[in-house]
Amino acid sequence: MPKKLILDCDPGLDDALALLLAHGDSDLELVAVTTVGGNVSLANTTRNALQLREYFGFDDVPVAAGAAGPLTGPVVDAAYVHGASGLGNVTLAEPRLAASEIPAVDLIISTLAEAPGTIHLVATGPLTNIALALRKEPRIVDWAASFIIMGGSYTRGNTTPSAEFNIYADPDAAAEVFRAGWTVVMVGLDLTLQAVVNEPIVARMHALGSLGTDLVAPLATFWTNPLDDDWDGQALHDVCAVAYLARTDLFVSKPARVEVETTGEFTRGMTVVDFHSTSPNAIVPTKLDVARFWDYVHDAWGTVTPHG
Ligand code: BDR
Ligand code: CA
Repeated sequence: MPKKLILDCDPGLDDALALLLAHGDSDLELVAVTTVGGNVSLANTTRNALQLREYFGFDDVPVAAGAAGPLTGPVVDAAYVHGASGLGNVTLAEPRLAASEIPAVDLIISTLAEAPGTIHLVATGPLTNIALALRKEPRIVDWAASFIIMGGSYTRGNTTPSAEFNIYADPDAAAEVFRAGWTVVMVGLDLTLQAVVNEPIVARMHALGSLGTDLVAPLATFWTNPLDDDWDGQALHDVCAVAYLARTDLFVSKPARVEVETTGEFTRGMTVVDFHSTSPNAIVPTKLDVARFWDYVHDAWGTVTPHG
């Protein structure tokens, strides 16, 4: 039986490739996609999700729009990484199908409520929708078969020296989510920066045919960091979170207590990770089997025939 998942996301270069993995891997079954403002505006992340749904061909999976901005504080985006549209220089056809009339928070709650204990929740954007869903229906903590995020780190940030983007974009939501009483699988930067798209990986992407040349490789190579002297390629952060669900065997993980800094002048959005805590609330993957990860991801992506 494939593992069912809801993907809450802000596509986003790597969110798009995470969606492709969730759709392409026959051991996974995507049951809903919910969007949040993050990398770019909610209007853009939702439009991108709708376009990707039709390009990949999962037209029967609902796409629902959620929160446009954080619980409190200013909206921050990462258009400087993902491009103005959120999908770099990839242009997809305008969607034929509309977003769900049900808001994201309600779709998350109702989908989990229909089959408690069987549907996994994966979040690859700011955690605003998840925090709002928890406020409205705290029982989702028990209903989600597991909860996996891409976010945080135990060493360094990427948006500030101490904060990773998804947590920095809504630290208050993240703090609520980590304290909700479930176990959060925190696939953070320390793990995802191992999944780097270097030249051999780009070559494999091109070997995927039009899917590779038109979409996967352009998304995976759009961003280059001018400040990084050791730049070897973009990291596919969000793909790692979906991969964790399907192929946990590729990851070495440790339990930890994670708290989110919400007030620090220099550390707002930092995940404070205690690997020695006696009251862990998280599982933190630390090591990726990189070679097998890429084999797995390419095989799953390669099953998808693009439409358009
Ligand atoms: C995370 O932030 C976003 O820019 C990416 O899509 C990913 O979810 C990496 O810090
Ligand atoms: Ca993302």
